[in-house]
Amino acid sequence: MTAAPLLDVADLRVHYPIRRGLFRRVVGSVKAVDGISFAIRPGETFALVGESGCGKTTTGYAVLGLEKPTAGRVAFAGADFTVATGEERRRLQRDMQIVFQDPYSSLNPKLTVGESIGEPLLVHRVLHGKALAERVAELLSLVGLRPEHATRHPHEFSGGQRQRLVIARALSLRPKLIVCDEPVSALDVSVRSQILNLLMELQRELGVAYLFISHDLSVVRHLSDRVGVMYLGHIVEEAPADRLFAAPAHPYTKALLSAIPLADPVAQRARQPIILQGDLPSPANPPSGCPFRTRCPIAEARCAAEAPALRPIAEGQRVACHFAG
Ligand SMILES: Nc1ncnc2c1ncn2[C@@H]1O[C@H](COP(=O)(O)OP(=O)(O)O)[C@@H](O)[C@H]1O
Ligand code: SF4
Ligand SMILES: [Mg+2]
Repeated sequence: MTAAPLLDVADLRVHYPIRRGLFRRVVGSVKAVDGISFAIRPGETFALVGESGCGKTTTGYAVLGLEKPTAGRVAFAGADFTVATGEERRRLQRDMQIVFQDPYSSLNPKLTVGESIGEPLLVHRVLHGKALAERVAELLSLVGLRPEHATRHPHEFSGGQRQRLVIARALSLRPKLIVCDEPVSALDVSVRSQILNLLMELQRELGVAYLFISHDLSVVRHLSDRVGVMYLGHIVEEAPADRLFAAPAHPYTKALLSAIPLADPVAQRARQPIILQGDLPSPANPPSGCPFRTRCPIAEARCAAEAPALRPIAEGQRVACHFAG
């Protein structure tokens, strides 16, 4: 690793208590995130990928300080975000922003888009008056919209344009990190690549880092530097993006990749998709040993007894499987 990490997540756990009965007694916990570690360097894109319910959004919320970790550490630009308070916490929050999946509910329908985009600048008392209006115009141009759009309301825009507005608002405070939580999943397929290209251009221009969350491996292929594959609250494989797609090592990553259609029809016909048996176990009652063992095509007795550690098998590639490498 060359530059010092911007974000350093160490052994992060977020367990939600399960309460029952009249006295709301805690009877168990949902282990939404169960001991994950990763780092993001300045200007880098780290993707978190996995099926719905594996803990991606919870991880994003914990990184942003919106969800309190049960254990572990989130260090941002060298400061421990899990214990920061007051002015330091406000400063860290300015440097991290989020873009949600649904651009329809992310913008207040009563505000003009100029008011929405300028809101963080007003709240954090960065700009007001003419300087604020100028910055809003600049942000609109930056995301490919026109400055005169500032006086319009969200309903006058398409889904793709609204996601541009949400991105403009996220950029207003010049953050160092943006958590993009399924930013194109709610959009028409035809506009998805436009938004992904915009995010990549903005990164080249502004040097912002992304934690890019997606349930779809094919979406992250071209825009991420590194990918972490999540399963049931764990990172089961982490690798540079080209390495992950060329030489996946974890049986779960292999199964996910085998489901992505290939552009070449001959190669596509020759391919055997790996169908995973059974359902995703509940994070309230995860399997013993390896979390993937109930669906793993190559599981052995050892997998039920012993949890595999995430261990390096190649440059930058770490895998949590007893038999990988
Ligand atoms: N506030 C909550 N209380 C209890 N369980 C939750 C809460 N938020 C999420 N979960 C559970 O935690 C797990 C991970 O959820 P989430 O982080 O939203 O996954 P993903 O974003 O990968 O779909 C799921 O089983 C989900 O039902
Ligand atoms: S440790 Fe065992 S169950 Fe887990 S992925 Fe490897 S082979 Fe499969
Ligand atoms: Mg989610």
